[in-house]
Formats: sequence, C-alpha cells, structure tokens
Amino acid sequence: MRKKLLVFTCLVACISVVTGQKINWTPVAPGIWKGVVGVPESYDLLKASGSHPNSEALEKIMQSAFPFETDMAVGRITDGKTSLRFPLEKEEQLYGFGLNFQTVHQRGKILQLHLDHYGGKDNGRTHAPTPFYVSSKGYGVFINSARYINVYAGTGVRKESRTPAVAKDRNTDKTWSSRPYSDAVEIMVPAPGVEVYVFAGPTPMDAVRRFNLFNGGGVLPPRWGLGFTQRVKSLYTSAEVEKEAADFSEKGFPLDFIGLEPGWQSKAYPGTFEWDKNRYPEPGKFVQRMLDKNIRLNLWINPYVSKDAPFYNAIQPYTGSHTVWVGEVPDFTIPQARSAFFGQLKKSQADIGVSGYKIDEVDGYDYYLWPDVATFPSGISAEQMRQTFGMLAMRYSADIFHEKNQRTFGLVRANNGGGVSLPYVIYNDYYNHEDFITALINSGTAGVLWTPEVRASKTAEEWIRRFQTVIFSPMAMINAWSSGTKPWSYPEVASQVKELALLRMRMMPYWYTEFARYHFEGTPPFYGMALEEGFKQEIKKDAANKNLDENPYAEATSKEIKDQYMAGEYLLVAPLFTGQTTRKVVLPKGKWYDFYTGELAGDGEVITVTPGLDKIPVYVKDGGIIPMMPAMLHAPKASEKVDLEIRYYGTKPGYYKLYDDDGETFNYENGAYSFLEIRVTKNAAGNFVGTIADPVKGKPNTVGNVTWRFMSK
Ligand code: GAL
Repeated sequence: MRKKLLVFTCLVACISVVTGQKINWTPVAPGIWKGVVGVPESYDLLKASGSHPNSEALEKIMQSAFPFETDMAVGRITDGKTSLRFPLEKEEQLYGFGLNFQTVHQRGKILQLHLDHYGGKDNGRTHAPTPFYVSSKGYGVFINSARYINVYAGTGVRKESRTPAVAKDRNTDKTWSSRPYSDAVEIMVPAPGVEVYVFAGPTPMDAVRRFNLFNGGGVLPPRWGLGFTQRVKSLYTSAEVEKEAADFSEKGFPLDFIGLEPGWQSKAYPGTFEWDKNRYPEPGKFVQRMLDKNIRLNLWINPYVSKDAPFYNAIQPYTGSHTVWVGEVPDFTIPQARSAFFGQLKKSQADIGVSGYKIDEVDGYDYYLWPDVATFPSGISAEQMRQTFGMLAMRYSADIFHEKNQRTFGLVRANNGGGVSLPYVIYNDYYNHEDFITALINSGTAGVLWTPEVRASKTAEEWIRRFQTVIFSPMAMINAWSSGTKPWSYPEVASQVKELALLRMRMMPYWYTEFARYHFEGTPPFYGMALEEGFKQEIKKDAANKNLDENPYAEATSKEIKDQYMAGEYLLVAPLFTGQTTRKVVLPKGKWYDFYTGELAGDGEVITVTPGLDKIPVYVKDGGIIPMMPAMLHAPKASEKVDLEIRYYGTKPGYYKLYDDDGETFNYENGAYSFLEIRVTKNAAGNFVGTIADPVKGKPNTVGNVTWRFMSK
C-alpha cells in the first residue's frame, strides 16, 4: 500500500515538475489579471517605481474576457527559479520586451532582459528591458520582477504540446526548418516566485493602454518640455550659456530649456552636486536671469557621490559596497540616502529655479557599474539594484518637483517596467539613425519615451535628416555636450532646420494633447505600425541567406516595418536617412493625406515618395485634426492664452479632444483641466464647418482666437 502511495505521489510530482502548475488569475482591474507563482520576492519593479494604477481611467476601457485559455499558462519552481509558460499560436507575432533598437518582431528571440547601455545587439541588454510583451492577438503579459529575466519567445519545442511540431527529413523535405513551431513563450526568472500580469485587448493597443494605465498612465510634461532644448558644451560658463540663449533669440530660433552638462559641477565623475564657483559664480542670479528670458535649465548628473560632495558623510553609511568612478553609489531605497542626496539637489538647484535633470550612466556598461557581487545596505541585491537604479533616481528626483507643484521633464538612460509615469525621456550614446527610429517604435510597447537626439553630423544632409526626426519625437533636442554644435551649424540647411524647429513649436497644442492622452488614456504618443488599427501587415518573409557554409541554419524572417511610426493619433511619420532620396511608405487601410499640402496620398497601399531634403514625409489619417499655434520662441507661460489654427484633413467627420490646463503645475491632478471637443462636419452646402467647445467654467483656459484650415480640397 505504502509503496503504491509512493509511486502515486511520484507520478503526480513528476508530472507537475514536467508540466508545471496552472496559474490562478485574479482580476485586479477591468481587463487586468494577476497571477502569483511560488513566493514572489518583496522587492520588484512595481515597488521600485512606486506607481499606482489609474483605476478611474482603467474602468473606462471596454471590459474584455481573459485573452487565452487559462490552462495554457503555467508556472513551476525548480532549482530556486521560476519558469513560466504562455501560449503562442502559429500566426501570432510578439512586440515589446523593452527598448530594442534593431527589431520590432520579437517572436523567435532569446533574450536576457538586463539593464545596460545598448551595445549594438537586440539581446535584451538595453536602457529599458521592460519585461512586458504584446501579442498581435491583442493581449499583453508583464513579469513583475527586478531580476535578469531569460526569455525564449517561441523557441523551445516541447514534447507535450497540443499542437506538436512535426519532424521532417532534411535530406528530402524542402520545408524542413531549423526552427520548428514552438507553441509557447517561456520565461525564466531567477527567483523562487514571481507576480505576473495579463492585460486584455481586444486590440494590441488596448493591451498597451491597460499596461500604461496600470502603471499610473504616461507622464504629462509641462508645455515647455515639448519645446526645443539645446544641451551646451560641457565646460561652458554661465556667461557662455547666456550668450548661447541670446544667439537663439537673435536668430529667431525657439528655445525652451538649456541643458548644462558635467561642467556645472565643481567636480564630476564622481560628482559633488555643487555648482562650480568659477564657471557659475552666482548660480541663483544666473538661473533667475534665464527664467526671466523664459528659458529653463536642466542639469546633468550621474548619481555617484564624490568625497568632496557636501553630503558625503551623511550618505556614506547608506551606499553600496562598490563604487562607480570611485564615487559612492547611494542605496535610494533607504530614506537617509534619499534625504542626503535629493536634499542637496533641492537646496542647491531646484530651490533656486532649476527645472530638471538629466540622469546619466544609471544603465551601464558593466565595466563602470557595480558588479553583481556588490552588496547594498538595504539587502537589495546588486542585480535588483541594477534593474531599478534609474527608476529610483527618477522617482525621487521627480518628487522634489512634485512637492513644489512644478512639473519637470528630463532625461535618463535607464528605466524599466513600472516607470511609465516618470517624467523622463531615454537617450543614449549610440548614434545609428535608423536604429534610433526603431527604438522610437519600440518605446511605445516598452512603457517609456525615447529621443533620437541630434549631436553632430558628417554632412548637412545627415544633420537635417536627423533633425527632422527629433522634431517628431518626445524631446526635440540637440545634445552638443561634446561637439558644441548649434542648430545653425550647417549653413546649407540652417533655414530649413529653423523651419523645422518652428514647426515643432506650432504643433505644441497637438503634442500636448497627445501627451495628455498618454497620461489619461494610456495611449503612447509615439508607437509603431503594429499598434495602429487598419495596419495589416502581410506576413511576407525576407529570404534566408542560402549560403550554407556561412550558416547552415539560416531561416527566413518575417518582414518588419521599422522605419515609419505613428506620432499621436493622426500622424504617420516616414523619415528618410542619409543617402536616401526616395522611400516606400506603407499606409494603413483608410485614406491618408499629405501633412503639408492636404492632398490625398493613398489608401491602404505602399507608396513611393521623393520628398526632397527639406521635408520629412508625414501623413494624416482621414478626418485628422491637428491643432496648431503661432510659431512662438518659447512655450506659452502658465495659463497664457494662445491663438489656435485648427487644421483638418480628409473627408471623414473630424473629432478631437483638445487638452487644456495651466501647462506647468500639478493642479490637473485635482481636476483643473479640460478636454475641449473639436468637430468638423460638412454643412448642407457641402462646405466644411468646424466647432470647438466653449471653455469649461472654473478650469484653466488657454484658447485664444481660433481659425480653421481645411487642408484637403
Ligand atoms: C555621456 C552622455 C552624454 C553626455 C556625456 C557627458 O555619458 O550620454 O550625453 O552627457 O556623458 O559626460
């Protein structure tokens, strides 16, 4: 009897070791379920980010059923690690797994999600290795772990599959493939338990929206954050910065904030977080003079503390075992470390009017940062700290500004799952223009913002091509920290560059509303075609490299669109890169119109365009409404009234909700905002008529005179 029982127990145990346990899913918000496998760790991505779901907004998205058969997701603990399995059907495509730079389709990838400076390969090491993926079937999955997570995105071929791959004879069967069908996304988390979240659709975009709102919704930048920003040479003095601002103004070039690079500090790498007395003798007066000119300042830091920092002794007990550039690494999970570090930033900078930070080198590379054997006084492991350090730095620096009821918008090199609402845009040192655009696409499924910053260029052509894309991105920036370039540094294209910068300013009402949608509805302001309804990608394959000597296992890969993207609800942007004079643009179903002329460009087809050097091809969806303002050199001041030119494209009835608030404070969190309905319809005589709702009583109203431009004849 006993023997029998033993055999029976072994059978059950052995089966569950092989197949794992079904995950129980608990609804946590409409269309969002949480599953717990094993015993999750006490520190995870959501704890590090401190994000809170926007429940009110989540309630507004259409209810949707659990997106796949619950039996198909399993979890198992072996060897102190958690294995997870999610279903993958034959025609399913996967997007996400963080800020990738070269690929959009993630099916078939093997990745280790590891925070790092991007090293030129999509292998999981990147600035935002967000453990979130979206399926073309219209759902998303998020692994809430601050560990290096291994992902097998449809590579493992299991024996017990319900739809097993079939063995083929390579000798005789031409359809033999080195990658037989894999029926699952398999994930390994090096911890004895983890929380997992599933986000329903019905569309992939709905899943992304739910994910973003679950993390608090996207950031709503101040209006000035969406203007133009120039980062000056590292060792500039306050006099040189003021001269730079004067040059911008003299040339009629817009400028909302200037970034000071390491030289504002008395020492950097590691930093003192104190102004350099020679280059910036009177920081308070300098910052104020800049503010008087409507120009804000953003300060570069990396959070590694020099022995010469005034708070060194206070922070020293709360730092890690290893240094970075011989600077102490604060354990920001400890309140004393936070008050020493951010207290200094507040007192020395934010309190005199500095508007934000660029938080550098919180990502990698390995040889600069602490190794995985490092320890931190809170007990948080080096690995967990690596995955969340940037997020902690953003979170607590953002708190400084929140307490002052003053919005900020800065730069960072590391984010992760959970950090959707943090007011920072990712940048890096890599400089491949094409890959910068692919990153912009992938930012939309990584819960982050990314800027394809412009630094310097080999030719005027490259300069303007790069400039065009940064104008259609979350942060319009030149980073001249090393080169000292100015927007007008390439005289052949200086006037076109100025036009582009002014266009950025004119489009501010549109950009601002699109960011409000990110915040209130979870819709990312920049995203790839896969999230766009009406975009049906033919499952065409790129031919495999047939040279068997080079690669006997080469496979055809699915064709992906990684060089055009959506900028907000209505605009499709199709950049050109150096050397190109013509390109193909894949227009989704429905009519699309030329942004500049209003002419019909095509409908659900591939068009070939030759736009000339001056133009970046941009197309507007039928019925598209683009609110614009005059080409101001600085963002409007808080609550300042601004005239609107409302552009309408196409023939379909137009509808848009223009967002409005004071543009600078957090009063919107207490309801001080409105969405004004804009409509365009045809009257009986066949003419277009536009209407905009009256301002809402008691709410900030920045709408001045309104003029209408019906762009399509
Ligand atoms: C780099 C950063 C650059 C610049 C530079 C200053 O790491 O990516 O944008 O800030 O540091 O030292």
